Amino acid sequence: MTIVTGVTVRVPAKLNLQLAVGPPQADGYHDLVTIFHAVSLFDEVTAEPAGRDGVTVTGEGADRVPAGPDNLALRAAAALRKAVAGGPRVGTGAGQRVGIAGVHITMAKRIPVAAGLAGGSADAAAALVACNELWHGGLSQPQLVEVAARVGSDVAFALLGGTAVGRGRGERLTSALAPATQYHWVLAFADGQLSTPEVYAALDRLRAAGGATAARGRAQAAPAEPDLDAALMSALRSGDARLVGQALSNDLQPAALSLFPSLRKTLAAGLELGALGALVAGSGPTCVFLAASADRALDLAVSLSGAGVCRSVARVTGPVAGAAIVPRSK
Ligand code: C5P
Repeated sequence: MTIVTGVTVRVPAKLNLQLAVGPPQADGYHDLVTIFHAVSLFDEVTAEPAGRDGVTVTGEGADRVPAGPDNLALRAAAALRKAVAGGPRVGTGAGQRVGIAGVHITMAKRIPVAAGLAGGSADAAAALVACNELWHGGLSQPQLVEVAARVGSDVAFALLGGTAVGRGRGERLTSALAPATQYHWVLAFADGQLSTPEVYAALDRLRAAGGATAARGRAQAAPAEPDLDAALMSALRSGDARLVGQALSNDLQPAALSLFPSLRKTLAAGLELGALGALVAGSGPTCVFLAASADRALDLAVSLSGAGVCRSVARVTGPVAGAAIVPRSK
């Protein structure tokens, strides 16, 4: 008999191809309409039985991930434990339920921390999938999505992957049925981080100060209700990368640029070097560029590295599937 000691889950980073932000609500959150897109930059999260809950983080930016109960993956595990009624059955007697097993979560990070790519949410989603398997929780994907939405705004999408429209805080998802086009992206990682709540707060300030009217790079007044961009949806349906590149948009971008002005240079450099479109990833500070092909993405990545406008670059493709268990090697 094989004894299962741990479950490993691979989970992708996300981009927002559109991020439309409404005014702040009473709870401080903003109503969103966003088009999520999962890309091939993955963290790996392993859950193993343990005496009590704990976490180990390795890889990209590991020292900046909280290792205590604030860790989002541990919070996800705790939320799952509650959702799996009574916790895992550890006893053998009829109807016996003995305590709830502890879990140790090990995260091997490649998604940079606080970079606008939802790395923390991805790890939380991976922890849900891994613990559900480890504890024989038996929750279906829709049930996991419900738990995910309580853990953080982007966690549900990391379960789903692909390309999807998010509403509410971003947790109410509908899959965006798009043709099997593979898009080639270049990510330019910045030397620094941005805090998501600070970027939202900066957007509110810019908007309150009257913003401006220019379409790109400046904050417009908050729309009463954010709207899905029909041009971007139809570009995605056509699978035409050039049209997709032209329609990318992010309402948080002016706020991110106000807090991290050097990103303007990075975005401009990518466009000058032939990117089909450029935008700040989520709340930033990663910059995202769409390339016409794998070869053009390679050229762009090399040139951007040489231009000295970012810390490092990565080439990724999307869409990719959401959090998935890594099969054990025999
Ligand atoms: O839900 P999550 O913890 O990922 O959100 C991080 C922060 O981003 C929130 O505390 C809030 O300040 C901001 N946020 C927001 N509106 C959203 C999503 C996030 O204001 N829809």
